[in-house]
Amino acid sequence: MSHTSILGTKKHWDAVYSKEHILYNQTKDIGECWYDDADAEDKIAHFILTHFGPGKTGGLCDLGTGNGHLLFKLSQLGLHNSAMVGIDYSSASVSFAKDVVSKGPDLEGIHFYQSDFLRNDDTFLGNHSGKFGLIIDKGTLDAIFLSKEKYQGLTGVEVYPHKVASMMKRNGVLLVTACNFTADELIDAVTKTGELEYWTRLEYPVFEFGGRKGSKVCTVGFRRRD
Ligand SMILES: C[S@@+](CC[C@H](N)C(=O)[O-])C[C@H]1O[C@@H](n2cnc3c(N)ncnc32)[C@H](O)[C@@H]1O
Repeated sequence: MSHTSILGTKKHWDAVYSKEHILYNQTKDIGECWYDDADAEDKIAHFILTHFGPGKTGGLCDLGTGNGHLLFKLSQLGLHNSAMVGIDYSSASVSFAKDVVSKGPDLEGIHFYQSDFLRNDDTFLGNHSGKFGLIIDKGTLDAIFLSKEKYQGLTGVEVYPHKVASMMKRNGVLLVTACNFTADELIDAVTKTGELEYWTRLEYPVFEFGGRKGSKVCTVGFRRRD
């Protein structure tokens, strides 16, 4: 069965964030924050504040940052950090998030870069080897799962653990939030190369709609081994 979908293409995300940027300029509404109905952003933010505290992440990177809202939330909750960065392969996402920073109060110190971190020739990846103590991903591995792109013959999901581990400090943490994987499937996919190990998971209620169980969001934490 093929998992590919328009949500796995850069073209889609460029169109989404170009449109959301225009709407933001008209209404100041930042647009969609993925898995908001499961309260994912609040859960992740409070987990990070509890486990790391202000200035103690050792450098934070948000993979596939979209509109950058999770970083803005962390900053507003007091997680100021000299190295808080968001990356995205969509140039529309990056210019939108940068524009929000330039207009918003107290958001300075958050930086955005265009990067397809799955590619071997990616400049950001090359310049940030072993740089981050905490990497967060909300919905990005889900989008990668839906892409038909291949990297030296491997899928994005297959190259993801190695690429992410290469950006992490020793004992660094990766926190992935997804709905296209169960927690067990996510643990299986992310620990496959042996570079990352399971650390912890956040609990979410199971929701139902019309008598059917809805897709469950999961957030799983991993540590870099060595
Ligand atoms: C479902 S959206 C989630 C956006 C944001 N994290 C949120 O929670 O609202 C997936 C994001 O991943 C980005 N993305 C997908 N594949 C990527 C890749 N290979 N490198 C960088 N960003 C990627 C998309 O451009 C999009 O912004």
